[in-house]
Parts: sequence; C-alpha cells; structure tokens
Amino acid sequence: MAAAGSAVGLGNIWKFPYTAGQSGGGAFVAIYLFFVIFIGFSVMLTEFTIGRRTERSAVGAFKSTDRRWSFVGVLGVVTGLLIMGFYPVVGGWSLAYVFKIGGGLLSEPAAISDSFGSFITNPIQPLMWMGAYLLLNIVIVMRGISGGIEKAGKILMPILFIMLIVVSIKGLSLPGASAGLEFLFKPDFSEVDSGVILAALGQAFFSLSLGMGCMITYGSYLKKKENLVQTTGMVVAMDTGVAILAGVAMFPAMFAFGIEPAAGPGLVFVVVPQLFAEMGGAGTMFALLFFVGLSVAALTSSISLLEVVVSYLIDEKKMSRIGAVLSASVVMAFLCIFASLSLGGVGPTIFDTGAFDVFDLLTDKVFLAVGGMLICIFAGWRLNKQDLKDEITNQGDKPFALFELWYALVKYVIPVAIAIVAIAGIYGGFT
Ligand code: PHE
Repeated sequence: MAAAGSAVGLGNIWKFPYTAGQSGGGAFVAIYLFFVIFIGFSVMLTEFTIGRRTERSAVGAFKSTDRRWSFVGVLGVVTGLLIMGFYPVVGGWSLAYVFKIGGGLLSEPAAISDSFGSFITNPIQPLMWMGAYLLLNIVIVMRGISGGIEKAGKILMPILFIMLIVVSIKGLSLPGASAGLEFLFKPDFSEVDSGVILAALGQAFFSLSLGMGCMITYGSYLKKKENLVQTTGMVVAMDTGVAILAGVAMFPAMFAFGIEPAAGPGLVFVVVPQLFAEMGGAGTMFALLFFVGLSVAALTSSISLLEVVVSYLIDEKKMSRIGAVLSASVVMAFLCIFASLSLGGVGPTIFDTGAFDVFDLLTDKVFLAVGGMLICIFAGWRLNKQDLKDEITNQGDKPFALFELWYALVKYVIPVAIAIVAIAGIYGGFT
C-alpha cells in the first residue's frame, strides 16, 4: 500500500492528462501503456527484488554489493531532490484549491480558467501554498510518521477514486463528450516523433516512481513471504488504472467545454472545478473531497521522494534525522521558489525554458529513464541470476513462469530500448 501511495500522485492526475493532451492523445496513451507493461513492470520488479535482497535503501543497496555502483543510488538522490524542486509547487496549488473551493470558486464557472492563470503567475500566493505544502512534508518525515499519512491515504485515495468516477460520468454526459474519448483512445501514429516516445517513457517512469531507487527502499521493507510479482502487478495496475481514469474524467469534458487538449499544466485545476460547478450544491462538496484527496495523494508521493534524500543523508552522511530533513528541504524550497516564479516569467531561463520546466524535463525525460537503465544493467550484469530467481520466487516457493522473459528484458532489451529512446528524444530536442 505504501508503494502504491508513492506511485499514485500528481503524476497520474495532474501530469498524465496534460502530457497526453500535449502529445497528441491516443498514440501517446498506447505507447505509454506499452512501456508500462514491458518496461515499467520489469523495472519495478527489479527494484523490489534488489531492495528486498539487500534489505537496504537506494544508495546502501548498491554500495553493499559493489562500491563502484553507489553512483546509481546517488543519481537517484539527486533526481529526488530535483523532482522536489517542482512537485511541491503543484502540491501547493492542490492545497490552495481546497481553500479556493471552500471560498466559493465554483460560484462563477466562467472565471475558473482565468482565476487559475492569474493564481499561478502571481509571484507571492503560490509560494505561500508551496511553503505550506513543503512544511507538511517536513513535519511528517521529521517525526517519522509517514505511517499516519498512509493511513489517511487508505481512506482518502478510494474517495479520490470515486470522485474521479463521478467526474467521468458527469463529463461523459455532456454534449460532444465522445470526441474526448476518441482523442484519448483512438491512436493516430502519424504524428508520433521521438519526442512523443520519450515523453511516454518518462511518464511511465515518473508515474510508477521508478528509476531513482524509491521502490528499492520500499522493497527493503517487504516481508520475505510476500509475493513480489503479485505486489508489482497490483501497484502497476492501480497506478495505471488511476491515470487512465483521470484521462477519462478530463478529456470528454474538455472537448465539451471547448478547452484545447494541449492547454498544459492547468488542465486538472480548470476542467475539474468547471465540471463540479455544473452540479450545483453537491458539486462543491465533491470538489472539496477531490482536492483533499489529490493533496493527500500528492503527499504520500512527495514524502517518498523526501525520504529517499533524507535516508541517504542519515545513512551515508551520518546526519541526524532533523538535520537531514531540514537541509534537504532548504534546498528543495530554494529550487521550488525558482520553479514557481518561472511560471510568472520571473527568473533565469535555459534555452528559453524556465526553472519549472527544466526540472520537470530533466527528471522524467532524462534522469529517471537513465536511472532505470542503470538499475537494469546492475541487476542483469552485476547480480547473480540464481540469487535474483531465489529472491523473486521466495526460494522457489512462488514459481514465476515468466522469469526467463523478465531476465532477458532486464539484461538486454530494456537497457538498449531506453538508450535508443532517450538518445533519439534528446537529440530531437525534447519536442
Ligand atoms: N509517482 C509519483 C506521482 O505519480 C511521483 C514520484 C516519482 C514519486 C518518483 C517518487 C519517485 O506523483
């Protein structure tokens, strides 16, 4: 459940719909699903296996096998730091929306879209919400009470799921909605280029929390009698199910409302409130539940990111928990300030790209994929095949019929596939 909490977050409900919208819809979704099944599943199983085998978190897992491989763990820590350079900005938006909806945002449906635009480009307001969101993370990780928030997640995530179904039904009932389903599920491969393929790979890694050792850490907590293949299957299915449902919740409504699919990062903050606004009084209640659920889903993901950095500082740099949390979050807050301001056009740019987009692009399109590739190379070429088999099958107790296929994928196919997709996508200029 904790691993599912890490996986299901803003990546599914905020990032997936708008990335699908910007990347042409159906073809992107088809390629994403292909990567989830053939790469995501295998990489997650690999991370769980390494974690449970070594009983250590990311850096320690590599270091205990071979010091020369510690850099893969360190790369994961850097990635976690960078993702936390923009994730809390969006987490802050989600928190803000709980209060905005409580304050009557839905009473003026026509103003919802403009209100989002002026909110995120305002220099001060989003920073305060980001600060509040980061503070929640700090308190939870500092007191080591992630268990508490995960318990909250167990109640609120199903509620979020139900809200997504409510939104979907409402969206599908609007005139012109079927065009949205067509956009999402009818692939048109003629528009696919290397950038779309890399975006789909990045989305798969980001959404499943792969490529930075997060799932190695969760694997280290898994009991020896747990069935790794089944656990992987459940987490992958839940995560992907929520992402697709978020797509079904948003695209039909967008087409009905005449919103551009490529509208960008604001989608969930514009489409969902507009839909709830159409429902009258109950809509406000539903919208509140939706954004509370989204905030908690975001929290269970970001604490897993913060925890990767914190456990590195505690284990390898011998810091106290409080010192580790504070120093990690000072760096994160600093990065987030740049990220948030960049949306209002303030601050430095690289190749005309602001800090928010730089952190986002670098992490999901480069660091996570490269991290995943290195994790596979490590498992395939540095670890012993029989050891892996023993770990996955619980010493032969739980046979895994597809073991040979998984091993071949991890050892040969996935590293080569990621290298090709990443190089072609980066060469194509991320577009
Ligand atoms: N999977 C999380 C989400 O979808 C984000 C995340 C990425 C968390 C990498 C941990 C590690 O929101």
